[in-house]
Amino acid sequence: MIKAIFAIDAFGGMGFNNKLPWPKCPEDFKWFQKNTTDHTVVMGRKTWESSDFPKPLPNRRNIVVSSNPNYRAQGAEVWGTNWIERMRKLDDQIKGDIFVIGGPRLLQESKLWIKEFYVTRWKGAYQTDVKIDMRTFFTDLRCRTVHPSRENNQLTFEIHIPWLSI
Ligand SMILES: NC(=O)c1ccc[n+]([C@@H]2O[C@H](COP(=O)([O-])OP(=O)(O)OC[C@H]3O[C@@H](n4cnc5c(N)ncnc54)[C@H](OP(=O)(O)O)[C@@H]3O)[C@@H](O)[C@H]2O)c1
Repeated sequence: MIKAIFAIDAFGGMGFNNKLPWPKCPEDFKWFQKNTTDHTVVMGRKTWESSDFPKPLPNRRNIVVSSNPNYRAQGAEVWGTNWIERMRKLDDQIKGDIFVIGGPRLLQESKLWIKEFYVTRWKGAYQTDVKIDMRTFFTDLRCRTVHPSRENNQLTFEIHIPWLSI
């Protein structure tokens, strides 16, 4: 199944200076690990280059999307502009899940094919330079599950699904 996993602040902010905008959060890291380990993760080239996580993410198939056919990412496959087509084909071939992990352009481009959205929602507002559009992104999604964080009252973990799914 194709899924997405990402974190946003109260205004849809996702990143700042090619890093996460909020303080490091072990509980969010565990949530990400728990959901994505042994699966496939797909990310934009800038996310791959961000210093927030080890490269490649261990125990996962790592796929990096770039329009540069010469781009190389050690420990990852590099896919080009036809990445959605390739991701859908891969989804038909494998048992595990494929997680689109961002940034926002990848999430927006793949949204129609995503069956579950794992969203960490930070309650505050942070300084960000990369956002998803909150006015449009969630309008055709409904929240199926909400877990408040046990360790940090600034967070909730949510799972959203498309309204049209059964
Ligand atoms: N909060 C979260 O959950 C989360 C998750 C992920 C990332 N982030 C943050 O978001 C920021 C990075 O996001 P970003 O939007 O700046 O960059 P990004 O999406 O990680 O990477 C953008 C790059 O991906 C490639 N790309 C995107 N769409 C493509 C397409 N259709 N075809 C071919 N290549 C494509 C292009 O690479 P080329 O330029 O090489 O062509 C583009 O410049 C960082 O601050 C990071 O920390 C946050």
